[in-house]
Amino acid sequence: MKTRILFVCLGNICRSPSAEAAFKGLVKKKGISHKFDIDSSGTYGYHEGEPADRRMQSHAVRRGYNLTSISRPFKPEKDWDEFDFIIGMDDSNMKNLAEMARNKEDIKKLFKMTDFSNNYNHTEVPDPYYGGDQGFELVLDLLEDASEGLFEFLNSNAK
Ligand code: 4NP
Repeated sequence: MKTRILFVCLGNICRSPSAEAAFKGLVKKKGISHKFDIDSSGTYGYHEGEPADRRMQSHAVRRGYNLTSISRPFKPEKDWDEFDFIIGMDDSNMKNLAEMARNKEDIKKLFKMTDFSNNYNHTEVPDPYYGGDQGFELVLDLLEDASEGLFEFLNSNAK
């Protein structure tokens, strides 16, 4: 059985497409891409159908990540069932996702990306949308670190 992971932010044009690409990059490097289904979505549908933010893309590509995903809103009626782990980027995402949970089983699937950080004490992946270059770099730093932590968490939970 594949492990199915959905990364979620607000617009699905900056943080969660980058989380998707970073985690896909990590499992590809380890040669086990076939064991995962990885996707991303946003709690807010305003950017639906759009590619990732150009600024986010240009920062990501310098680290070898092509952000190819197209923004789509989180769909509670489908996504809670189709994924094993739903991973939000900040406390606002977590609140929005918790409000969309249908039952306790859904809530058990809900995690925050920074819970998996190894080397950072940040408790959120901050929204980079209205900031400058540093914000986009911080997003990538936090996501690369937490992707390693997430991978270790999944391994330690595997039978
Ligand atoms: P994301 O960033 O949630 O990381 O995709 C944002 C994208 C768009 C907006 C805010 C944050 N916005 O307000 O349109």
